[in-house]
Amino acid sequence: MSLLLTNIGELTTHTDEHGTLRDAALVIEDGRIAWIGPADRAPVADAREDLGGRAVLPGWVDSHTHLVSMGDRAEEFVDRMAGRPYQAGGIMRTVEATRAATDDDLRTRALWLRTEAHRGGTTTLEAKTGYGLDVETEQRLARISAEHAETVTYLGAHVVPAGVDRRDYIDLVTGPMLAAVAPHATHIDVFCETGAFDVEESREILLAGRDAGLGVKVHGNQLGESGGVQLAVELGARSVDHCNHLSPKDIDALAGSTTVATILPACDLSTREPLAPARDLVDAGATIAIASNCNPGSSFTTSMAFCVATAVLQQRLTFEEALWAATVGGATALGLDDSTGRIVEGGRADLHALDAPSAKHLAYRPGVPLTLKVWANGVPV
Ligand code: NIG
Repeated sequence: MSLLLTNIGELTTHTDEHGTLRDAALVIEDGRIAWIGPADRAPVADAREDLGGRAVLPGWVDSHTHLVSMGDRAEEFVDRMAGRPYQAGGIMRTVEATRAATDDDLRTRALWLRTEAHRGGTTTLEAKTGYGLDVETEQRLARISAEHAETVTYLGAHVVPAGVDRRDYIDLVTGPMLAAVAPHATHIDVFCETGAFDVEESREILLAGRDAGLGVKVHGNQLGESGGVQLAVELGARSVDHCNHLSPKDIDALAGSTTVATILPACDLSTREPLAPARDLVDAGATIAIASNCNPGSSFTTSMAFCVATAVLQQRLTFEEALWAATVGGATALGLDDSTGRIVEGGRADLHALDAPSAKHLAYRPGVPLTLKVWANGVPV
């Protein structure tokens, strides 16, 4: 069964071959893109959908979420808006709620957030563990994450749980917990920050994950110049996420590396941290990704459109840079194949149609729900 999407006013492909096309069409067949080109040269297909001059772009690739987690920390958010600083310690409140949840509770919550993300145009999701912090719950989170997200990251090293000896916990994270979670995960991550893990501890944890065959990611430089960025570059990490507090040396290191700097604009606003210096990173030559960081503590949103609009309106990215960072950038941060985040013949049909003539309206009309229709793997979601 093939479907022709035609009368596309603006088609953003992120490919050298097609770039951004006007008056375009494409054909979806068996979940893949079978043809891309001008609408007046489109082949016949089994079914046809006229998009009336609206814009189509690749589905968002949200490369940083904590999708499988429980609880509500709205009061902590209200306190932050009143001036109380964000601290790593709040993580334990989500851990308590998550540990108390049944598998069904966790699935219901993940499904709710995944559906919300899909409705906003997201077609690829990463999900982290990190709210279990014991072997059984971390493994549970990894298993359930794998049911709801395209890639899973092991974040046993989120914080040291209250009442647990630091050294014993690091041994657990690099030993039995890693062994239990690694079969369900593709990456290991560590929160390298004051109140969480220092650089030496983070290196030990990440190397253990790398030895177990996992790719490396780092939560770094969120609350201060934690050394997380330098460590991520040293280890050839796929990404270092947050990047709020960067020295010129950090920016140079990222620019000279293959490590993606993932910015999390909704989290920056929700924690009142300075917005990550996205413009400086791009000007220096670093690769950046934009992600939602969906979690009940520091960033309770699935809206990639909000993140993209913020990156354009407040972080001085061009619209094209922000769109690329929220699609191809995210795919790069996850080590996914070259077709993810792009609309390419032979690639997955992950598409986001807007009720607008141009993708620029995502920033031009901020806060307006512009998503018209989303296809993941060629299937409407
Ligand atoms: O990416 N920074 C560390 N971890 C998560 C959320 C922490 C929280 O629950 O407060 C983040 O923001």
